[in-house]
Amino acid sequence: MVRVFVTRKIPDNGIEMLKRAGFEVDVSPKNRPLSKQELVRALRRKPYDAVLSLLTDQIDAVVFDAAPRAKIFANYAIGFNNIDITEAKKRGIFITNTPGGGADRVAEHTWGLILALTCKIAESDQFMRKGKYKGWDPMIFHGTKLSGKTLGIIGTGRIGADVARRALHGFEMKVIYYDIIRNEKLEQEFGAAFKPTVEEVLREADIVSIHVPLTKETTHLINSERLALMKPTAFLINTARGPVIDEAALVFALQSGEIAGAGLDVFENEPKIAKGLVKITNVVLTPHIASATKEARLDMARMAAENIIVALEGKTPPNKI
Ligand code: GLV
Repeated sequence: MVRVFVTRKIPDNGIEMLKRAGFEVDVSPKNRPLSKQELVRALRRKPYDAVLSLLTDQIDAVVFDAAPRAKIFANYAIGFNNIDITEAKKRGIFITNTPGGGADRVAEHTWGLILALTCKIAESDQFMRKGKYKGWDPMIFHGTKLSGKTLGIIGTGRIGADVARRALHGFEMKVIYYDIIRNEKLEQEFGAAFKPTVEEVLREADIVSIHVPLTKETTHLINSERLALMKPTAFLINTARGPVIDEAALVFALQSGEIAGAGLDVFENEPKIAKGLVKITNVVLTPHIASATKEARLDMARMAAENIIVALEGKTPPNKI
């Protein structure tokens, strides 16, 4: 019997695919992320051949030891910073992600945050709900016009490029970017200007949007020194991973008016958010839902299941990291 452990309920289409492939599938019954100890205990219960993990699971040597037969850990996420890739490679375990699933949606959510901030949608929605609207007033909720402004993208993989495309075609903005690898396609297609340092993007952009993966190098890429380089009228958007921004430094930058606002879908210590952040009005916060559409979630389940099926056939799974 081939066995698969799924660390938390995902859409049924993925589970059905695994069952149709003839696998015994155990899904964690808990409607929350498992602690490391719970995950290890669950994996030790049966000799699992594959694990379908979520971005909230920390997968390292201890977890690999608990599932010695597992050939693949299929992460149900675009990101995979929750998995010790080096350790997996040493052991010959496949690690896969679900890159197509939701990437364009993350770009749309990024724009949702940008618009919520620059059109003051979130803030004025609160105003309406509190019954504060007393009639049209030319002096309230002055937003920020986007056309002609500069969008600075840090990290121009698939999501960053999708955000850039929408900036140019949807909002007639100028695009500048920083990446460790120069993205000539982005330059040719969207006239995006490469900046050789993060600092240059921060100094010049009216909106800065983060799209780098979380690694040792990108942890606290945006720190207090770099926040201080941004224009006081600029907005910072993060739909990538929370620890890329030093959240305490961001709270300070917002409170002291060093920057104009922030749109955040990810947080440094999820599900906690930094002290003070909820009290700041020029901030829009969403609970790590940038890829959350029904289509994307189904697509991610299909991709994760397919990665497992292919790996257990002894072949290289399509989304191997
Ligand atoms: C969400 O953050 C993902 O990586 O899919």
